[in-house]
Amino acid sequence: MEFIDIAKSRYTTKKYDPSKKVSDSDIQKLKEILQLSPSSINSQPWKFTIVGNQELKEKLAEASYFNAPKLIEGSHVVVFSAIDDVEKFEKDINDYLPEGAVGYFNNFLKPQGEEKIKNWFSDQVYLSIGYFLSAVGSMGIDSTPMEGIEQDKYKEILGLEGYQPLVAVMIGYRDAEDGNQPSKNPKSRLNLKEVVEVI
Ligand SMILES: Cc1cc2nc3c(=O)[nH]c(=O)nc-3n(C[C@H](O)[C@H](O)[C@H](O)COP(=O)(O)O)c2cc1C
Repeated sequence: MEFIDIAKSRYTTKKYDPSKKVSDSDIQKLKEILQLSPSSINSQPWKFTIVGNQELKEKLAEASYFNAPKLIEGSHVVVFSAIDDVEKFEKDINDYLPEGAVGYFNNFLKPQGEEKIKNWFSDQVYLSIGYFLSAVGSMGIDSTPMEGIEQDKYKEILGLEGYQPLVAVMIGYRDAEDGNQPSKNPKSRLNLKEVVEVI
């Protein structure tokens, strides 16, 4: 499928078919896809947690506001978390990043303070979410990005010490009647000329 077709056909799924599960082989591919996510200076300040266990999904559903039914009915939820321990990150990058990248962090980012660094971590995680949504779309898997979660409860339930959950992405297969699919609810976007300029 051409990428433009994936962009047109992927959509935020609002209702999942609970009888359809993402296969183990697709989960294996998604693990590798997540590992390959790009990030600034290859910093990789993240953790991706994939939950397929029904009991655990139902616990997370209790911390997911209006998104709860998606967690109960969808196949797997992928939780995107950013590193929370800046000091540990600073130490660890000496082991896995080249000198130039460590220098970029120490000379340009570190002087801007912890808040800026954490925002920069979050930027990297959000980038991986966009990439992941496209990837699952290319595999014919439906998805829902969800900011509507209680991040601190997710952290506690999943034992994510040293990480801050930011967004969860539900994956699975749509209920045939899902009213948000593009055939029933055509995509709505700002005018192309307003948002994209070619100069
Ligand atoms: C970061 C992010 C967080 C979102 N959070 C939620 C959410 O909590 N629940 C939900 O149903 N949709 C959520 N959405 C879906 C958006 O509303 C949706 O992407 C947007 O309306 C465009 O529609 P489309 O994804 O179907 O093209 C989120 C999307 C993004 C990118």
